[in-house]
Amino acid sequence: MSEKRRIVVTSALPYANGDIHLGHLVEYIQTDFWVRFQKMRGHECLYVCADDTHGTPIMIRARAEGITPEELIARSHALHLKDFTDFEVTFDNYYTTNSPENKELSERIFAAAEKHGYITTKSSPQLYCTHCGMFLPDRYVKGTCPKCGAENQYGDSCDKCGATYGAEELGHPTCTTCGATPEVRDSEHLYFELEPQHEYLEKWIPAHTTSDISNKLLEWFREPLRGWCISRDAPYFGFEIPGHPNKFFYVWVDAPIGYRASLANWCAQHGQDINAWWPEDGEQGTGNGEQKTELYHFIGKDIIRFHCLFWPGMLHGAGIRTPDKVFVHGFLTVNGEKMSKSKGTFVNARTYLDHLPAAALRYYYACKLSGTTDDMDLNLADFVQRVNSDLVGKITNLASRGAQMLNKPALGGMLGTLDEEGRKLVEFAQSRADVIAQHYENRRFSQVPVEVSKIADAANEYFDRREPWKTIKTDVETTRVTLTAILNVFRILAIYLKPILPTYAEKSAALFGESDWTWSDAAKTLEGQPIGKYEYLATRIDAKQVEAMVEAAKVKPASSGEVAHESRASKNKAKAADREPQATSQDFPLKPEIAFPDFEKLDLRVGTVLSCETVPKSSKLLKFELDAGALGKRTIFSGIRGAYPDPAALVGKEVVFVANLAPRKMSVGVSEGMILFAGEPGVTGGVLTPFATAGAGTPCT
Ligand code: MSP
Ligand code: ZN
Repeated sequence: MSEKRRIVVTSALPYANGDIHLGHLVEYIQTDFWVRFQKMRGHECLYVCADDTHGTPIMIRARAEGITPEELIARSHALHLKDFTDFEVTFDNYYTTNSPENKELSERIFAAAEKHGYITTKSSPQLYCTHCGMFLPDRYVKGTCPKCGAENQYGDSCDKCGATYGAEELGHPTCTTCGATPEVRDSEHLYFELEPQHEYLEKWIPAHTTSDISNKLLEWFREPLRGWCISRDAPYFGFEIPGHPNKFFYVWVDAPIGYRASLANWCAQHGQDINAWWPEDGEQGTGNGEQKTELYHFIGKDIIRFHCLFWPGMLHGAGIRTPDKVFVHGFLTVNGEKMSKSKGTFVNARTYLDHLPAAALRYYYACKLSGTTDDMDLNLADFVQRVNSDLVGKITNLASRGAQMLNKPALGGMLGTLDEEGRKLVEFAQSRADVIAQHYENRRFSQVPVEVSKIADAANEYFDRREPWKTIKTDVETTRVTLTAILNVFRILAIYLKPILPTYAEKSAALFGESDWTWSDAAKTLEGQPIGKYEYLATRIDAKQVEAMVEAAKVKPASSGEVAHESRASKNKAKAADREPQATSQDFPLKPEIAFPDFEKLDLRVGTVLSCETVPKSSKLLKFELDAGALGKRTIFSGIRGAYPDPAALVGKEVVFVANLAPRKMSVGVSEGMILFAGEPGVTGGVLTPFATAGAGTPCT
């Protein structure tokens, strides 16, 4: 094998304000395949990632839940990591962008850009919502399109005519959070000028991406490159820009820097020098003068601009090595269509796991991933069929039939010696090692199951022809020879599949008394040694499990996840300008319709406010003591402090509250119900959310 490589690999950092879903997993699972393959080949390979924690959507969502952004991102981090772990996606480090390492690195990269004169300031008109007390990102305003007059369009582009514009150009703008009419205010912003790196980037892009992507990006290079707006006004959850009070780094500045911060954090934990993994000395990347290092980013096609234009611009500006390649994949469709919550095809990672095994999805994704930017379809019927007929019927069957037969008393669980035909079969399986390795290396994962199936077909044909279930009665030793070939072939296939099915492979290794298979283990042949007991490796899946998953995905209340996806899809055609991250279109989509029995479950009662006070250390919460009549006294925490500057004024008021809501333990105490507040006149369509019920004058929660 070629010399030992040192490789750093990343997947895009998932936003902390949404759940991981099957679309995300297209990326994390394929990156995991690739990393596991590199590790099996004996290379030093690190897979680092993190949650992307900054930006307006996270701030607004935390507000709506009456928690701090830090609490929100801590919760997401735990959930995301659990989802990944259960899908056997194994990171060397899964960090957060809200880290000291990231802050320091962002400041350093910014300082380098300032030093080179890449940072400029411009004042521009922006929409400001006095009600929310903030400048509104594009996806937080709606109004009429300045070009075609279509109503209800976002502040960046029109869905009807495709025009792109500034939010301040919209007619009759409204704040999507609170419904108020924003005003135009001038605000000064910082820009990262790309034009000084025009030539550099024009060369860099085609060398580091595939031609379909670089052709698109290079269209912008016919004109001087526009500056990229990298600042946001307070309030913003992120890093304040040094020397620019009340200005924060736009989330897309510190997000990719988070790759390096995650690696820095890993290095600190392992006593390693980051420059030995991702050097600062420019393009050659021979950090410390010796080891050649490699750096790869796996991303979806919606975030190409950030990774292939701004990111190399930032890195090059700071003298840090740029990635060797950016690997771009397409989007997931389900049954040929965009994932849809109403159809139950927008499936969260957890919902899937509640009904089906992770290995089945990993196997199916492998079958579908060809290393191009084309979208990838999860056809649910095909999914069941492929897993059952190939993974279970063809491949696993070799082990289950072979091992169970060999473990019969007559054969005593001992492998024999191969005869000529068996040896040919095993050698055929071994001869495919390099071809399969090349498929992994080039991310043509779909070719791996194809190759494996071909070998499995040959083995099954041999098995059926030799009829060991018959010969076992007449000729034990011939049967042993047959099973030795079958089990050796199975072992080789399981090694080839290990990057895709790690647990499956580990269990298979145990069958042969082995562990921690590496790629070269496929070249070995096992003869004359005992095997272990056969443990279930994979079982058939049932269309009913899939149906149940789809049902469960349907009934779940809408979360911003789907909104994020839908806005993302319509955006692929959209403009190249600066934009807030995806989950911004609406944080409060209409919840699914409920039937009367659902409503009837609510026990609504009237209570009198006995006391109402602020909660120490919380900027959001008010603590209510209610006189609930026959029910006695109730303590309820509500995240509506912003709406009531004078809580004492509420004492004596009668309120309606949900009396049978399960008590909720919060860091400040137990909340025993939920108070409902009427929306303010003029905020028709405002949302009542737990702890953040729209009250008179409630700003944007
Ligand atoms: N936070 C940014 C990435 C910052 S990287 C410095 C982001 N997050 S995301 O959660 O929206 O998406 C994370 C990754 O998942 C992206 O690469 C995105 O393309 C990918 N996918 C999200 N939905 C997807 C599908 N439906 N299908 C395939 N990949 C998808 O973008
Ligand atoms: Zn507002």
